[in-house]
Amino acid sequence: MNQNQNVYDLSGKVALITAAARGIGKACAIALAEAGADIILGLRQKESGKELVELIRKTGREVLPVQMDVSSLAEIKAGVKEGQAHFGRIDILVNNAGIGAPNPAEEVTEKDFDETLAVNLKGTFFVSQEVGKIMIKQKAGKIVNIGSQAGSVALSSESVYCMTKAGVSHLTRCLALEWAPYNINVNAVAPTFVKTPGTKKWLDDPAFLESVKERIPLGRVGHTDEVAQPVLFLASQAASLITGETLMIDGGWTIQ
Ligand SMILES: NC(=O)c1ccc[n+]([C@@H]2O[C@H](COP(=O)([O-])OP(=O)(O)OC[C@H]3O[C@@H](n4cnc5c(N)ncnc54)[C@H](O)[C@@H]3O)[C@@H](O)[C@H]2O)c1
Repeated sequence: MNQNQNVYDLSGKVALITAAARGIGKACAIALAEAGADIILGLRQKESGKELVELIRKTGREVLPVQMDVSSLAEIKAGVKEGQAHFGRIDILVNNAGIGAPNPAEEVTEKDFDETLAVNLKGTFFVSQEVGKIMIKQKAGKIVNIGSQAGSVALSSESVYCMTKAGVSHLTRCLALEWAPYNINVNAVAPTFVKTPGTKKWLDDPAFLESVKERIPLGRVGHTDEVAQPVLFLASQAASLITGETLMIDGGWTIQ
């Protein structure tokens, strides 16, 4: 590694971020674009990315929104194909799509269960597979999965979500091992509670927020940028010898 090289510079790279319209996905798309990458926005509803497209254009990077409900294999294949056809390569994948509302275990329905697994596990696996095929040919790539602290510690009334995020961490290790010969790094980040449109409803409840903050030694919930910057690190040359890791971004929740 050249000492004068900016190891966070992503110029010439192309990054696909799933569920990029808002929250952590949006922050990741902006952070990677600001670092120099051209961006493919994977969107459950393509039209939801209009504002973000404009924001990314302002960074001077090229951006392509693609239709991609990650629970549909057909949409994954079509979206990845469109991105690859447009840019000719995909260097970075951020598997951000993830769902899971609080639900006591005794009340979880088969529909809840199937939908959560379809996005968090099946989606993460098959987007990785489709992009992985391109990265294998390129003999280079960086995959960053958005896991959760819920993959390491149990959270009450979130059994299905916790189970899937533990699965994301282990899938991260499996793919890291399998694709290491192709110079593909596969890592994950595991955030604590971060205020996003998805968590706003709960974190706006003062009692809930207080109960969460009490569990976080740093005493506060996260900001989306505090996830996006570690994702940038793992997607960059700075993390070239790191693979199979899940990086906790939890203000210390899981150290106790
Ligand atoms: N916010 C947190 O506190 C927190 C903490 C730990 C981990 N995470 C993880 O971070 C990721 C993003 O969370 P967030 O809070 O920013 O999300 P959010 O709930 O604010 O947004 C979710 C996004 O996912 C998209 N989406 C839902 N189903 C989809 C599908 N089938 N295909 C494609 N896109 C789909 C939605 O359109 C939306 O844009 C998730 O994987 C989540 O599990 C979030």
